Amino acid sequence: MVLVLSRSDIEKVLTMKETILVLEQAFRELTSGTAQMPPRASLSIPGEGWLGAMPAYLGGLGSLSTKVVTMHERNASKGLPTVRATIVLNDPATGEALAFMEGSLVTAYRTGALGGLAAKHLSRKGSKVVGIFGAGIQARTQLAALAEVRKLERVKVYDPVSERAGAFADEMGRKTGLAVEVSPSSSDAVLGSDIVVTATTSKVPLFDGGLVAPGTHLNAFGSFRPDQREVDRKTVEESRVIVDSREAALAEAGDLIIPIKEGKISADHIIAELGEVVSGTKIGRRSEAEITLFKSVGLGIQDCAAAWLAYTKAKENGVGTELELG
Ligand SMILES: NC(=O)c1ccc[n+]([C@@H]2O[C@H](COP(=O)([O-])OP(=O)(O)OC[C@H]3O[C@@H](n4cnc5c(N)ncnc54)[C@H](O)[C@@H]3O)[C@@H](O)[C@H]2O)c1
Repeated sequence: MVLVLSRSDIEKVLTMKETILVLEQAFRELTSGTAQMPPRASLSIPGEGWLGAMPAYLGGLGSLSTKVVTMHERNASKGLPTVRATIVLNDPATGEALAFMEGSLVTAYRTGALGGLAAKHLSRKGSKVVGIFGAGIQARTQLAALAEVRKLERVKVYDPVSERAGAFADEMGRKTGLAVEVSPSSSDAVLGSDIVVTATTSKVPLFDGGLVAPGTHLNAFGSFRPDQREVDRKTVEESRVIVDSREAALAEAGDLIIPIKEGKISADHIIAELGEVVSGTKIGRRSEAEITLFKSVGLGIQDCAAAWLAYTKAKENGVGTELELG
């Protein structure tokens, strides 16, 4: 029997706090060598969008999954989600398909949760003010996760589509109980922020790196193509850079690949993978004054961990629909 989990089933079982914890385990596994994750296979659909296939295995957790994810930037203007996904979970012992689940919400949770995990290990403990670029679904879960790991007081959101920024401020202010304001300009979202999050569909840098104050932590989550970036060279040069995976970042993160190609930094500018910081084998932040930058392109192990959590909790709570595939 396959357990089918819809979006509303996922909503019933996943919590941000638990997703952060299970991701912490996944990133430890990536560093200790019990995780397997080939580079994602992807293709571009001319004039339309992008599709990626992301298999992953976490030996410690006992989770085996494959996500199929699409990204269609023009969907936002049609009122449709930009990122869509489905996830299949298989039994590592027999190969049997255990679950088939709606993956867009799982993606948003695991992406936000990674931002929370990175901020827990890399941002200053006293971080209170967050500046967010982008008012989409990923930005929402990024904020929800930051609120789990830091005592936030004030949030600023910048999006060139002002109605989206306004809707984000209303909804997230209500959900988090925090003061969420719309920033009138991109620079306003950076100035005075302890943590800056980028979760946009922009292909070019969002702000001048000269605006980033000492001690800031940046979570850069939007771009995942070698010729696109959200943060400029100055930001990268001045930051202690940590990535989700060196291999994936050097293949997909234009934020780092472009300055490397220009000869301004080398690949050694990446000081660690987050799993190394979480496991204590590499040091993340070394001082209150340092700028830290976490760049994520998104890894299959994140889906593998979050899908395992959703499936386990759904089984425990009788959520979902069992289907006989024959
Ligand atoms: N790192 C990961 O694991 C991961 C996972 C999922 C999605 N993503 C990426 O995150 C990004 C956001 O995804 P989403 O699902 O929230 O999309 P979305 O379309 O819902 O939201 C993106 C928002 O970015 C805004 N934006 C565009 N240019 C901007 C700019 N210059 N300044 C500020 N805001 C700007 C858009 O107006 C839109 O509101 C996408 O690029 C997606 O590919 C990354």
